[in-house]
Amino acid sequence: MNETKTALVTGASRGIGFGVALRLAQEGFKTAIVGRDHIRIEQAAKKITEISGTQTLAIVGDVSSWSDCVSAVEQVVQTFGSIDVLVPNAGIGIIGSVEESDPADWAHMMEVNYLGTAHIVKAALPTMKKQGAGDVIAIVSAGGTKGYPEWSGYCATKWAVMGFMDSFAQEVITHGIRATTLCPGGVDTSFWDDLNKDINRKGSDGRSKLMAAADVAELVALQINLPRNVLLKSALFFPTSEWH
Ligand SMILES: NC(=O)c1ccc[n+]([C@@H]2O[C@H](COP(=O)([O-])OP(=O)(O)OC[C@H]3O[C@@H](n4cnc5c(N)ncnc54)[C@H](OP(=O)(O)O)[C@@H]3O)[C@@H](O)[C@H]2O)c1
Repeated sequence: MNETKTALVTGASRGIGFGVALRLAQEGFKTAIVGRDHIRIEQAAKKITEISGTQTLAIVGDVSSWSDCVSAVEQVVQTFGSIDVLVPNAGIGIIGSVEESDPADWAHMMEVNYLGTAHIVKAALPTMKKQGAGDVIAIVSAGGTKGYPEWSGYCATKWAVMGFMDSFAQEVITHGIRATTLCPGGVDTSFWDDLNKDINRKGSDGRSKLMAAADVAELVALQINLPRNVLLKSALFFPTSEWH
């Protein structure tokens, strides 16, 4: 158990972020969660506290905004005093062939998926450096390791995160900060319901074959429970029904 430790998870009102935050709370972390909608994020925090019995802080913020990320980190430090684990997770998907895609959607995804990760990592870095320890575990995607037809804009944002995290990992390793990228294949979340194309909608055959958010949380738990001198640098993992 990690009773005195704290965690910050972005995009945690539902889906993978919620599953990861819940798992961290169950591991004994005081957990702060970030999302744009205040009702959804407060309900999620209440649920995590009810299930885990651990204090959970709801923070309203948009990770594409640098000032929101700075404010989120300030709120966590004021409330909990530290950030031991940071999970940049918030992300969106808008798909389509290059020919049919709207460049405005590419820019929007870059702002949320890539800049949203870079912002929260940079905002939390001074706190982690002062602590001389920390874990940054970015939820990326299998799409950060290869391309998929119709997913060019989304994959580009995830490759950007991979490049950022690889550089960052090397900058901070001597400060006791471990940086990990988790690259899941399909996970059963509302990501698919919100997608602009009809793939893996709730109730579809494909949906039942995806992984669960709790499976991604399992990899987060693996990294944080490894001895401090061991780094899981990156993990690419899929449901057994999917192979790439
Ligand atoms: N589901 C998959 O198959 C899959 C596979 C690989 C990787 N991923 C990645 O995993 C991450 C989480 O995906 P998911 O499937 O859990 O998605 P999801 O179910 O759609 O949840 C997304 C979460 O992010 C929040 N969010 C969205 N935009 C935000 C912003 N600008 N600022 C702050 N919070 C924001 C949402 O809350 P609000 O709307 O209230 O802000 C929500 O809590 C994403 O980065 C995604 O690319 C997903």
